[in-house]
Amino acid sequence: MITWGCQMNVYDSGRMADTLAPLGYSPTETAEDADMIILNTCHIRDKAAEKVFSELGRLRIIQEARAAQGRRPILAVAGCVAQAEGAELLARAPFVDIVLGPQTYHRLPEMVARASRAAGAVIETDFPAEDKFDHLPEASAPQGLTAFLTIQEGCDKFCSFCVVPYTRGAESSRSEKAVLAEARKLVAQGSREITLLGQNVNAWHGLDANGNPSSLGVLARRLAEIPGLDRIRYTTSHPRDMDDDLIRAHAEVKALMPFLHLPVQSGSDRILAAMNRRHTREDYFRLVDRLREARPDLALSSDFIVGHPGETEADFEATLDLIERVGFASAFSFKYSPRPGTPAANATTQVEAEIADRRLQTLQALLRDQQNAFNASKVGQTVDVFFTHIGRQPGQIGGRTPWLQPVHMQAPDSLIGRIMPVRIAQATTTSLAATLVQEPACA
Ligand code: SAH
Ligand code: SF4
Ligand code: F3S
Repeated sequence: MITWGCQMNVYDSGRMADTLAPLGYSPTETAEDADMIILNTCHIRDKAAEKVFSELGRLRIIQEARAAQGRRPILAVAGCVAQAEGAELLARAPFVDIVLGPQTYHRLPEMVARASRAAGAVIETDFPAEDKFDHLPEASAPQGLTAFLTIQEGCDKFCSFCVVPYTRGAESSRSEKAVLAEARKLVAQGSREITLLGQNVNAWHGLDANGNPSSLGVLARRLAEIPGLDRIRYTTSHPRDMDDDLIRAHAEVKALMPFLHLPVQSGSDRILAAMNRRHTREDYFRLVDRLREARPDLALSSDFIVGHPGETEADFEATLDLIERVGFASAFSFKYSPRPGTPAANATTQVEAEIADRRLQTLQALLRDQQNAFNASKVGQTVDVFFTHIGRQPGQIGGRTPWLQPVHMQAPDSLIGRIMPVRIAQATTTSLAATLVQEPACA
């Protein structure tokens, strides 16, 4: 299984593995060893989609070599490229056996059976009437100390530049009961931190026990009642769906971590309107103020696009100004990439590549400075770190602060799995170094 794209793809890859386990499949380290190879793909930007075709070129050679030995592996392409370009993909790569969109993963075992029998590819890229979550297997492989849990999928917002409404389909929410059951199972399997996932996670409106639409603030409170679930995060949120109760939950729910990924994309009202984002820069400022009032130590991250069609120098300056005013702990930023079928791709006001490149560099330099400053502000402080893995250097363990900063520390690996206060000794742009403040008590 080779996974690209967002965290939901990571979660989906796990669920695909769960559906295949009863057939006797288990993950391998390399494609050379595999009886089936699944590419879980991303269509968000041109580069992401092109990777799929170059990887397929490599895999074709492996497939042919194995076929010569009488053990031809099944090649499947899943995810958002499969959904958006299924037919084109088969035309360009006829050696692919299975093409399946994100809403059909529960049908994978049946597709494998059909692919083994049939000559010719199996393609499933419709949006089936049944809900895949009702048909995915109950049993799942443990995810470890930190886990992902998809609660909402799809998007009805149709931002001018974005493929997600087309690849993931209409917005839908899983029920509160299903989410709580999965969360309890994850905790029973050893997870202490859960990140709730959705393309518009804060638009979650799953049905509660009485059959009424609930909301993410309520869900966060219910999840926080699960003993042993110490950290809750959610991503990705849309500014429009940040309701009062969810903001209040940030003040009231201790397990809700003080870090929020809240993409704004641009700081220019003109461009925000062209993007069909349905909020202004003032809306965003007001929202950030209210969040920080509720939870003063809340840190923010965001996504930015530079070079959206029609973006002028003044629009770009407005984005820089928004960044200065808000102050971000971290952020992702991208050069606008025209995507087939989206409204912005047809705009006649495309921005020249060199201009967009220069803007991206300027923007990233500012965001890097802010990230440096945020990380440096923790030096000398004692913060709770959840240690989850062995570090890169010998004798090191690694973990995350409440603000999602990676931390490493010289300490015995028996501390993995613990959330403990440590002293932040050093900071770089991307990570923190910590020391123990006290000898840890026995677990
Ligand atoms: N659901 C989330 C983000 C989904 S995609 C949201 O509403 O914000 C992740 C990020 O990729 C987006 O926030 C956006 O910044 C970026 N992105 C999406 N389409 C893009 C495109 N055509 N070109 C460049 N960046 C894009
Ligand atoms: Fe894409 Fe906009 Fe939906 Fe986010 S809200 S997934 S950027 S269309
Ligand atoms: Fe990519 Fe699809 Fe996620 S396009 S970002 S894998 S929703």
